[in-house]
Formats: sequence, C-alpha cells, structure tokens
Amino acid sequence: MKITIVGAGNVGSTCAQIIVDRALANDVVLLDVVEGIPQGKALDIYQSAAIQLSDTKIHGTNNYETTANSDIVVITAGVPRKPGMSRDDLLSINSDIVSMSTKAVVAHSPNAIIIVVSNPLDVMTYVSFVNSHFPRNKVIGMSGVLDTARFKAFICMELNISIENIQAMVLGGHGDSMVPLVRYSTVAGIPLDSLLPQDRLDALLDRTRNGGAEIVKHLKTGSAYYAPAASIVQMIDAIVNNRHRIMSCCVYLTGEYGHHDVCLGVPVKIGRTGMEEIVLIDLTPEEKAALDKSANDVKAQIKSLRNLQKAKEQGKENGTKEQAKTTVK
Ligand code: LAC
Repeated sequence: MKITIVGAGNVGSTCAQIIVDRALANDVVLLDVVEGIPQGKALDIYQSAAIQLSDTKIHGTNNYETTANSDIVVITAGVPRKPGMSRDDLLSINSDIVSMSTKAVVAHSPNAIIIVVSNPLDVMTYVSFVNSHFPRNKVIGMSGVLDTARFKAFICMELNISIENIQAMVLGGHGDSMVPLVRYSTVAGIPLDSLLPQDRLDALLDRTRNGGAEIVKHLKTGSAYYAPAASIVQMIDAIVNNRHRIMSCCVYLTGEYGHHDVCLGVPVKIGRTGMEEIVLIDLTPEEKAALDKSANDVKAQIKSLRNLQKAKEQGKENGTKEQAKTTVK
C-alpha cells in the first residue's frame, strides 16, 4: 500500500505522521511545491518511526514522479483565505491548484483513490472528480467525518459521557449550511433529543456548524489540523482495511437525495474500492429542506466558478495576458 499526500502543510504532515505511527501503509510520499519542506518533514517523521517502531517508509518530494502507482492520494493543497481576498478569489485559486494536482496525480497513479481535503471542500471535490475522469467511487471529499467528529466531541463535553457511546451524523456541505441530523444521533442507543432540552441541542448544533471557525478564531493565523488529519486517516483506515464502514463523505451525486451533478456530504460505505455505496436514509421534510439548501449553496458556488472561468477564457481571447489554467467541464 502506497499513500501520497499532496501538500505538506499542517493537515498534510499531521496526516502523514498518523499514517506512519499506525503503520497503515508500506510507503508514504509527502509532496509539496515548496523546496525542502516535504523533505525535512518526511525525514523528521521517518525518525519518529524509529521510536514508534513503525516500518512504514516516508519520503518527501517536490516531484510527482515519486508518487507513481499510489493506491491512495490525499489532496490537501490549496491556499487559505487571506485578508482582502474574496470567496471567489479563493475559489478560483484553489480550483487551479486542485485541478493541476489532480491531473498530475492521475497521470502517475491511474488506479488511485483520491481523498480531497482542500477548501471550499465540496466544490474542490467536484473539481477533482471532473478533472480526474475517474469513476465517482474513487474521488471522495473529507468533510462529514470531521463535522461528525466535532458534533460528537461537543455532545461528549455537554453530557460528560464516553465518546464510545456516541453515534452521530452530519450531512450536507462543509459550510454554514451543513446538516447535523439529531434524529440519527444517539448516546448508547438513546436518542440524543431525549437527553437534552431543545435550547442546549440548538447550541450544540450551532457550535458544530461553526466548528472550523471557532478554531480559526483561537489560532488567528491558521485553521484546524489535528481533527482534519485524524478524519482523513479514519477514511484511509476504512479503505486499507476494507472495513465497509459507513461514514459521511462528500461524493458526486447522480440523483441520490434528489440531486444531480454536485458533490455533497451523504452517508456512504467505504472499503477497499473507495466509495462502495451511497446509503439512502429517510429524511423528514425539514431535514430534506436543509439538505436541499446545502446542495443549492454548493451548486451556486460551482456556477460561480464556471462564470469565473468563462470570464478568464474571454480575457484570454481578448488578448490579455491572463492565463486560464482550469476548466470545469
Ligand atoms: C475546518 C476547515 C479547515 O473545518 O475546513 O476546520
């Protein structure tokens, strides 16, 4: 098993470290465009394996050739939103990065399963899926696992109950309109809403929706990486060990839950071939309306990305020097 991680930032390198610690692969490749960073971090992790007694080998590189024949590739590359940068700027820059990374990955690892982590997550999963020309079971976005982990952590804090007792589910996009499903969340099989009054429950849901932003507010100059990295590894573990584990992941929909041509967080079964099945669960009209809203938000972002790309192409045709690097179909 060979696993490549594209992007040696906090999420990518923490993910690599956990994989090596747990010896989940024979080989790990950490790739970044910045010279020295993946090499230095990989060597550091390699040395930590001497203490963890892990035989997993890790190599840092700036070259996609080193990633050849990977079984799983995690794409974490992208820039965070900086002051003065609009959401559209971020969308356009990260879409270029993710589409270029995807094409380079696919050229060297035609049989890989791609896990997308770059933000905005649902649109970047779509960009990767379209540019990969892979079947949809092989391009999976990591968002629901993280959002579900946050929901579980907050339930745990609120009730002072072992995390082992908690089952929860968060669907939808990785953003303000994500859909935590109280009706499918339990504590030792007991429905969550019978253990908490509505106002406490509402507060938990709000905190879950703002889980990423709360951490950015503390860190000021960055965003979360321990829980995102652990979430990626949970997906990798399900693939490597063919667990057929049900978890919420972002995948391309072809009519499931009433949506087409969009990537969105839904319950899926994950095993050795990637996404094995989209699990269809009953939703109340309210839950369905919340999921629809989330899907429509993602669709609106995809549309706005298409318009940005069209404008870029137009600029090119008009003889400006602007380069259009990506096209989403
Ligand atoms: C988060 C960002 C990184 O949820 O998506 O923490």
